[in-house]
Amino acid sequence: MATQGKLEVLILGSGGREHSLLKACLRSPRVAKVRVAPGNGGMALEAECLEIDAANPVAVLDLVRRTGSNFVIVGPEVPLAAGVVDALEAAGIPAYGPLAAGARLEASKAFSKDFMVRHKVPTAASETFRQLEPALAYVRQQPVPIVIKASGLAAGKGVVIATTHAEAEAALRDMMQAKVFGASGDEVVIEEFMQGEEASIMLMVCGEEYLMLPPSQDHKRVGDGDTGLNTGGMGAYAPTTVVTPEVERRLRAEIIVPTLRGLKADGMDYRGTLYVGIMVTATGPRVVEYNVRFGDPECQVLMPSLETDPVQIMEDIALGRFRSASVKLRPGATIIIVLAAGGYPGEIRKGDEITLPATLPAGVDIVHSGTKRRADGQVVTAGGRVLGVVAHGATLREAAQRAYSVVPLVKFEGCHYRRDIGYRQLRRDGVL
Ligand SMILES: Nc1ncnc2c1ncn2[C@@H]1O[C@H](COP(=O)(O)OP(=O)(O)O)[C@@H](O)[C@H]1O
Ligand SMILES: [Mg+2]
Repeated sequence: MATQGKLEVLILGSGGREHSLLKACLRSPRVAKVRVAPGNGGMALEAECLEIDAANPVAVLDLVRRTGSNFVIVGPEVPLAAGVVDALEAAGIPAYGPLAAGARLEASKAFSKDFMVRHKVPTAASETFRQLEPALAYVRQQPVPIVIKASGLAAGKGVVIATTHAEAEAALRDMMQAKVFGASGDEVVIEEFMQGEEASIMLMVCGEEYLMLPPSQDHKRVGDGDTGLNTGGMGAYAPTTVVTPEVERRLRAEIIVPTLRGLKADGMDYRGTLYVGIMVTATGPRVVEYNVRFGDPECQVLMPSLETDPVQIMEDIALGRFRSASVKLRPGATIIIVLAAGGYPGEIRKGDEITLPATLPAGVDIVHSGTKRRADGQVVTAGGRVLGVVAHGATLREAAQRAYSVVPLVKFEGCHYRRDIGYRQLRRDGVL
């Protein structure tokens, strides 16, 4: 079997998540060679980047054959939902990530709500609609705030938390009539607003066997103190103690075990990352949503928190032989501060030259997201979230101090970032 020797890995994707997966591959004794498609400016400095439509299963299979790759790691959800892993599996090429059937947990919120109801996984009460009029009639009878969600993939923009009935009705018209998210708004989920604090639970799943990575927290709003517009995520840290030992016990018993049993019962041999977004409410943890890949920027703080080689774990999962008992986590805390382009999350500047520090202090790393390597070798901005400063420390405070000491050394026109990443945990730790 090809994987008995060393791995020639192909990573699909182009964000910070994929750059941190690339770094894990470069550190891994299992890996002989790693390529990325399509990659970004930072990845181009460390590995061969290949232009490809990563969401096209035929193109991916062709690239795998051309490059002689024998293991594929899929970063984002779109190729998973498009059946890239199905195509690779049919061709006998091991890949990390679920099949398209499993990826529906993210690609259809209507499907995932139905799954949770059938398998008694605690989540917000909801109704799904395909017609505007009944949706409007329903929403008028519900209390506010209320949550309106386009069912299909919407790159993190398809959810509206309406604080008035007028807002809720406008959101329904935008999604179902004006089709602002295209076919992703053909079905709309209307759900109860859950009060509480959120956490990101990243599971590496092999059927009913799973590894729970340290619970993390993302920071979606662009401004300090969770103000301003929503973004793809301005920073993250792990672990978070909003998941107390008691919350963790209930999370495993009431959410994770029923979810993995449900997948099996429904005939899905789920292998890959399962991201469970939870709300820690007064009555216990409840699911906000499932994602079928690592979160970005959560992945960037979780890869360094593994003592065990993450690539070995992914390979074992792809081959269906993973056992979680052997996995070792690194003690301490990890943080990422995202540096964004001028204008983000609105219209952004692109093409600005980036100056990076020549050396980094111990425990600090830089992960690229929206960057590009120009023909002359200069790295320039090319996306909203440009790069992230990742730091590890014995405590979150130490990690944050390390990260924020490096942030001002990264320079590009229009750069902005949050100064309060991890504030909830720092308060809980009594150091803020
Ligand atoms: N039922 C809910 N109650 C409270 N907040 C919610 C609820 N559903 C979603 N949210 C908020 O909206 C955000 C986005 O919703 P989510 O379901 O994660 O969709 P997506 O990530 O696909 O945009 C969540 O991270 C959470 O902050
Ligand atoms: Mg989400």
